Amino acid sequence: MANTTSMKPAMLFIFGGSGDLTNRKLIPALYNLYLDNYLPAQTLITGIGRTAFASHDEYRAKLLEGIREFSRKRDNAEAGWVSFAAMLQYFELDLKEDSTYEKIGGLITEQTKRLNNAPNVIFYLAVAPQLAPMIAQKLAQHGLCDDPESSRIVFEKPFGSDLPSAKELNKLLGGLFEEQQIYRIDHYLGKETVQNILAFRFANALFEPIWNNNYIDHVQITAAETVGVEDRGAYYEQAGALRDMVQNHVLQLICMIAMEPPTSFGADEIRNKKVDVLHAIRKIAREEAHAHAVRGQYSAGWIKGKEVAGYRQEKNVNEQSPVETFVAAKFHVDNWRWRDVPFYVRTGKYLHEKTTIISIQFKEAPGYSFPAEAAETWRPNRLTISIQPEMDIRLRFQAKRPGPEMILNPVDMVFSYAQAYDGKEPEAYETLLEDVISGNQTLFMRADQVEASWQVISPILEAWQNRPPVDFPNYAPDSWGPEDAEALIAKDGRHWTTLPPVNKD
Ligand code: BG6
Repeated sequence: MANTTSMKPAMLFIFGGSGDLTNRKLIPALYNLYLDNYLPAQTLITGIGRTAFASHDEYRAKLLEGIREFSRKRDNAEAGWVSFAAMLQYFELDLKEDSTYEKIGGLITEQTKRLNNAPNVIFYLAVAPQLAPMIAQKLAQHGLCDDPESSRIVFEKPFGSDLPSAKELNKLLGGLFEEQQIYRIDHYLGKETVQNILAFRFANALFEPIWNNNYIDHVQITAAETVGVEDRGAYYEQAGALRDMVQNHVLQLICMIAMEPPTSFGADEIRNKKVDVLHAIRKIAREEAHAHAVRGQYSAGWIKGKEVAGYRQEKNVNEQSPVETFVAAKFHVDNWRWRDVPFYVRTGKYLHEKTTIISIQFKEAPGYSFPAEAAETWRPNRLTISIQPEMDIRLRFQAKRPGPEMILNPVDMVFSYAQAYDGKEPEAYETLLEDVISGNQTLFMRADQVEASWQVISPILEAWQNRPPVDFPNYAPDSWGPEDAEALIAKDGRHWTTLPPVNKD
């Protein structure tokens, strides 16, 4: 067990301290880190926001409600609450005012004196992205991030809204801070199952030798959600599924699958290998975009027995909105390993099932020696990595069906996290916050990664901006998206993979 008293003290300032992200994700994650002895004993967490609370205690009570509702350890929410709550405080302050930053400076000095030890100071921007440049400038002006070793700034996505804006933001931040201080979150990278891809690929002798175009036919990634845009219409109108999911999470999953073996687990080494993948992704000509990517928008309809509004009827959404809530695309990674191996991806809201899976489809084995009827149900090998909600890895292979004849059947060999580890996996935000506190940038996006990702999707973004959709809405809730998505993969003679849950197999 970690010795939390020997860890360097930490001060965490959460801007947007009364917001949804803080309540749902950040505080439950920090509390779990505390319960699991990963939080330095001398930690002070300061929420800063515009909501008024009568006292620090009222703020703490609200956060406890969030833990009871959203934490994976909600059942023993009270276990260490009293001592954790003592680490929490709240100030109602306006982030546009210089006095706010003076106050923060004062709090840091006070804590340093009290502990006789300078803490690591972390600024977490859980605020609307438009505020990020202003806050960054104020933090720098007030000298709050002068020491690159001990001060860190955490940014939530979206990081820019296209390549030029991401470049501009990176340039601004690069002029104010060192890259080692900047933590750009992509919460998918904190997911256990995503991190396990590296272990799976590089800690086993079995898979790496066949992890290439000699054996792999194609790769598929599905990131499907059963929710609509909920109350995020205003944000989503500026984003759409391509920016919201593909530019970040989905491309990062491609990087994990396609990267070359790193020579070490150093943050920059891993990120270098990932950025190589992004650079190798074939640049689609804008005029060709329609052959590589299709978009969809949900109509009104029914999902899980509930009637739901179409995207264009959602709150803060334009009645004629051209914004996509579904994307399917085909990418190629142009290097030796992945030559001619397409990567098909699809993601969308209000789809039939909540599931994120990566499926590696191997080439067919030659069936020469088997009689024709043996091979009726012949299927190529397939490795499926379920990221969520099921967390498992399945390898499909052929087996002989018991009986006198030689009949083949595809069967699955399954590794299930839930069965192996009893549901003890940390949430993505726990891993990510622990990394920020201990100063490990491996799972965070470096400036060049962000830009390379925007570069990959730029032609599609531009093509879609120039050509408004004519058939929106084009898919019903509870479906797998528009017909075009089926056509995108079917024209290559392939089909999308969906899986039955393990225990219902
Ligand atoms: C976020 C997107 O980054 O990821 C959301 O902004 C999306 O629109 C969410 O719902 C999905 O995350 P998860 O962890 O539920 O797959």
